[in-house]
Amino acid sequence: MSILAAQDLVRSYERGAPPSLDRVSLQVAAGEFLAVAGPSGSGKTTLLAILGGLDRPDSGRVMLDGEDLYARGADALTRLRAAAISFVFQSHNLLPTLTALENVSLAVYCKRGAAAQAEACHLASSSALRLRAPSRWGRRC
Ligand SMILES: Nc1ncnc2c1ncn2[C@@H]1O[C@H](COP(=O)(O)OP(=O)(O)OP(=O)(O)O)[C@@H](O)[C@H]1O
Ligand SMILES: [Mg+2]
Repeated sequence: MSILAAQDLVRSYERGAPPSLDRVSLQVAAGEFLAVAGPSGSGKTTLLAILGGLDRPDSGRVMLDGEDLYARGADALTRLRAAAISFVFQSHNLLPTLTALENVSLAVYCKRGAAAQAEACHLASSSALRLRAPSRWGRRC
């Protein structure tokens, strides 16, 4: 069974323009490694954003582990993204008001709870950068 399946994804950004995704379907098995390749503007980022729950398709479905991703409400989709999906963005998307340590730890910290905070600190301190910036979250790693 596939862990991720897309069926007939269509996404247009502007009315009248050709769709950036035109009935794209794919299946990914658990443990499979998949690379998406194509020329600039061919729709790679658009596809990955929809597969990852960041952007809704105009039509079509994304099934993640047997569940229709976009049948969820916005809050439930946000929780699922935090728990199960990771992105490395094309641009860095760092938050300028946070320290380097806080930027590295942010996704894990948002899960809340002592265990998540400890995991965030472990991630930050084990990073290749060995970040030493102080935290403003009232807890030093
Ligand atoms: N926010 C947007 N508004 C309007 N058009 C967009 C938007 N994002 C992408 N597009 C258009 O959709 C098409 C696919 O863009 P996309 O960014 O998905 O391509 P890409 O394959 O990731 O390109 P690159 O290799 O340059 O990153 C392009 O024609 C692009 O101009
Ligand atoms: Mg791109």
